[in-house]
Amino acid sequence: MAQVSIGSLGDFADGELTRVEADGTALCVVRVGDRVHAICDDCPHAEASLSEGDFLADDMAVECPLHGSAFNVETGEPDCPPATEAVRVYPVTVEGDDVLVDV
Ligand code: FES
Repeated sequence: MAQVSIGSLGDFADGELTRVEADGTALCVVRVGDRVHAICDDCPHAEASLSEGDFLADDMAVECPLHGSAFNVETGEPDCPPATEAVRVYPVTVEGDDVLVDV
């Protein structure tokens, strides 16, 4: 794994999903307060970009724009079908203002 900078904390609006390319990997990134979460941007069910979905703050989950499965940003697990596989979760570290992801 390589730790890659994906920008500064101020680049990410609270609760908004952003697609970021890090070292050739497409990530769906969301900031929640001073924490940042990153999951794989590709829905494991079909061809959908999770960053085009919605962030469900109460569930800490990203809802797929295509069929509505919502993936928890800490575990990657979907809440309901049709997705049955978890999405990959990437560890994020915030150092000062710098946002670093292990990809
Ligand atoms: S493509 Fe994401 S739930 Fe179907």
